[in-house]
Amino acid sequence: KERYNKENKAPERRTKELDGYVGFANLPNQVYRKAVKRGFDFTLMVVGESGLGKSTLINSMFLSDIYSNEHPGPSLRVKKTVAVETSKCLLKENNVNLSLTVVDTPGFGDAVDNSNCWAPIVDYIESKYEEYLNAESRVNRKIISDSRVHCCLYFIAPSGHGLKPLDVEFMQRLHDKVNIIPVIAKADTMIPDECNQFKKQILNEIAQHKIKIYEFPDTEEEEEVKQHKALKDRVPFAVVGSNTVIEVDGKKLRGRKYPWGIAEVENLEHCDFIALRNMLIRTHLQDLKEVTNSVHYENYRCRKLAGLGTDGKPGRISNNVAPQGVMNSFMTVWNPLAQMEEEKRDHDAKMKKMETEMEQVFEMKVKEKKQKLRDSEADLQRRHEQMRKSLEQQLRDLEEKRASFDKERQSWEQQNGITLQELRRRSLEANSK
Ligand code: GTP
Repeated sequence: KERYNKENKAPERRTKELDGYVGFANLPNQVYRKAVKRGFDFTLMVVGESGLGKSTLINSMFLSDIYSNEHPGPSLRVKKTVAVETSKCLLKENNVNLSLTVVDTPGFGDAVDNSNCWAPIVDYIESKYEEYLNAESRVNRKIISDSRVHCCLYFIAPSGHGLKPLDVEFMQRLHDKVNIIPVIAKADTMIPDECNQFKKQILNEIAQHKIKIYEFPDTEEEEEVKQHKALKDRVPFAVVGSNTVIEVDGKKLRGRKYPWGIAEVENLEHCDFIALRNMLIRTHLQDLKEVTNSVHYENYRCRKLAGLGTDGKPGRISNNVAPQGVMNSFMTVWNPLAQMEEEKRDHDAKMKKMETEMEQVFEMKVKEKKQKLRDSEADLQRRHEQMRKSLEQQLRDLEEKRASFDKERQSWEQQNGITLQELRRRSLEANSK
């Protein structure tokens, strides 16, 4: 029984201890099995000036040549306009499938005038939200494939001088559309003190410009709090990428070999690569997807359904609650009945089209049949005419024969002085006697 609290609001539920094992403790395993069977998908965007090591880092991260054939490398990139390129690959680890899409943005920040170079990136992100919204708003919803961008790694050049105006502008334009994780590229070009100082400077500037980068979710579990703190302390992640495997004391490792030593990619004392990879794949992939869905996509959805453009009052709408004004416009703009009506109209139009097409086919068939009938009628007529002519000919022949026979008979009667008729009568009389 439910008991109601004093204010008579939400019902209070009592926790009951069970006398035996029912089996619903197995529920998480059911979810786990289903999720493994379905596989996981993740879309990662990389943005930054060319030559900052984006492709090297992504290949190092997934220990695979994600870019192998498609990526021409820095020297071959001649275009100076920003393009958006996607590379897809299916990664397998212990029977778990990860369908990874890497979205690259070659040409970003490469031009002399970089104003609006973020526009194709914003367009791409929003087009993916739009695709998802369209799929979601259909009356017949099937399994919706999620190609929304779940995370954007923004590469900052290791200048030691803080953010460039383009970095600030980009992050400000994109922070309410996608989870931004800032990374310092080619961290092996700085000594540890410089790197720490640079990190502090970047964080200050991010706060100063009110840029909202991806935040770690709140947790109460002690272990997770520690883990999150260790990761948070490393933001912005200073990374080193390398696709070369070096052998040191019989151990194979990814790194960059210099005359004075080796910068190891997977060594937390050398750079934050492992921290970034763990965060991105092992610990926070699902949260990045959830934040994309519940915050960024929700922001887009409200803006879109309320009829506001991309630039229409941005601002992050937290906890999935849209402001009243937005909700009111949302209600006036989004009307499921109107949408169903529209889909019904589409359906009716399709049926009408099919009907006219069928009528046309039917008419054509009738025409064909009529023509066939006409043809066979003419054929019959022709054969009838032929038959009639041959019969007339036969009649004429018979009449001719008859005339010649009469002539022959008459000459015989004259010769014998008796008619055939008379002859027949006499023979009849003789027979009767
Ligand atoms: P685009 O293809 O032009 O977009 O460049 P990108 O950002 O993908 O850079 P890419 O991975 O092609 O690397 C450019 C150059 O930087 C290559 O010569 C890499 O070997 C080198 N490089 C990559 N990562 C690092 C790094 O962490 N440190 C150093 N020092 N060099 C790096």
